Amino acid sequence: TKPLRIGIAGLGTVGASLARLLQTKAGSILHRAGRPIEVVAVSARDRAKDRGFDAGAMEWHDDPVTLAAQADIDGFVELIGGADGPALECVTAALKRGIPVVTANKALLAHHGVDLARLAAANGTEVLYEAAVAGGIPIIKTMRESLSGNDVTRVYGILNGTCNYMLTRMEREGLSFDVCLKDAQDLGYAEADPTFDIGGFDAAHKLAILTSLAFGTEIDSGSIYIEGIERVTSEDIAAAKDLGYTIKLLAVAQLTDTGIEQRVHPALIPAAAAMAQVSGVTNAVAVDTDLLGSIMLAGPGAGGDATASAVLSDIMDLATGVVLPTLGIPVDKLKPYTRARMRAH
Ligand code: NDP
Ligand code: HSE
Repeated sequence: TKPLRIGIAGLGTVGASLARLLQTKAGSILHRAGRPIEVVAVSARDRAKDRGFDAGAMEWHDDPVTLAAQADIDGFVELIGGADGPALECVTAALKRGIPVVTANKALLAHHGVDLARLAAANGTEVLYEAAVAGGIPIIKTMRESLSGNDVTRVYGILNGTCNYMLTRMEREGLSFDVCLKDAQDLGYAEADPTFDIGGFDAAHKLAILTSLAFGTEIDSGSIYIEGIERVTSEDIAAAKDLGYTIKLLAVAQLTDTGIEQRVHPALIPAAAAMAQVSGVTNAVAVDTDLLGSIMLAGPGAGGDATASAVLSDIMDLATGVVLPTLGIPVDKLKPYTRARMRAH
């Protein structure tokens, strides 16, 4: 059987895990996908670095755009990061060739998702991004597929693993903000620029994507009220605990009479609530719908293997040919986003 040939741009925490898993799990992947998945080309900055997999037979590209534009591949995987620059350029180059793109890059999608979905559709292909929201939790496929017959009224949750890891350790161990942030970085949870995590921007990028899927609207990350956790201290957390609350960075999108309200901010959650039990790098997404009532999915929100699990599920879809429209419905059918009048929260 014909292998699926993929190129991977970005071999950091996620990319290196993915490349390693594609080698160590080749047997079970072949069994489930019905064909081998071969990494034929890779790109990163430092060619000399040992990344824990055998890159011997892979074509090396210093420039990810050259890989995307020229390599003999059936799928292109972008794991560099960043809303613009090389990530945007290489994804654009692949889509222009009609090559499907798999990405974990929520910043890219929050800023350019609709344009990229249009470009993909115009070239007869799609963008897959299960890993872009809540790391390993299969929330994109849940929203696009399993909930597609539901009308969603609200989607909310804990969407940043770094912040939740930090808040949990600050609460349980009384550690300082800076120590917890450093540990989250060392564990590979944080963004290359951790301001995106602690400032709430990463959670906002993910929320913008969820909002589009939930309400069938264009992605509008510019309309989100954003407040990060930078001003949350161990003392705040201890005081909240004394009153029976836990502090979480919450992301909320809900339908109101005037439009859709999107917000990201630290929130006091009653200690007995399910959301308060979500600890460490775990993320959780709750969805309120007309048919199903409320559901909540929880699981690892960051980290190499957990995120690679989600990326791999998209690559498996490419191998089996099961690929849905990028934003759940054809991109020309998306409704414009209508921003709600914000209320106090
Ligand atoms: P890293 O910073 O660990 O890795 C980035 C990779 O991109 C590195 O291999 C780096 O090369 C390469 N790179 C950077 N700039 C260039 C360039 N100009 N040309 C070629 N290669 C380049 O990032 P992560 O693996 O943590 O994240 C990757 C993506 O996945 C991001 O979009 C992130 O938001 C997303 N994500 C990450 C999660 C996580 O837990 N880490 C979870 C969910 C999503 P080199 O190694 O040589 O420096
Ligand atoms: N920096 C992100 C987080 C990675 O901590 O949640 C997963 O998207």
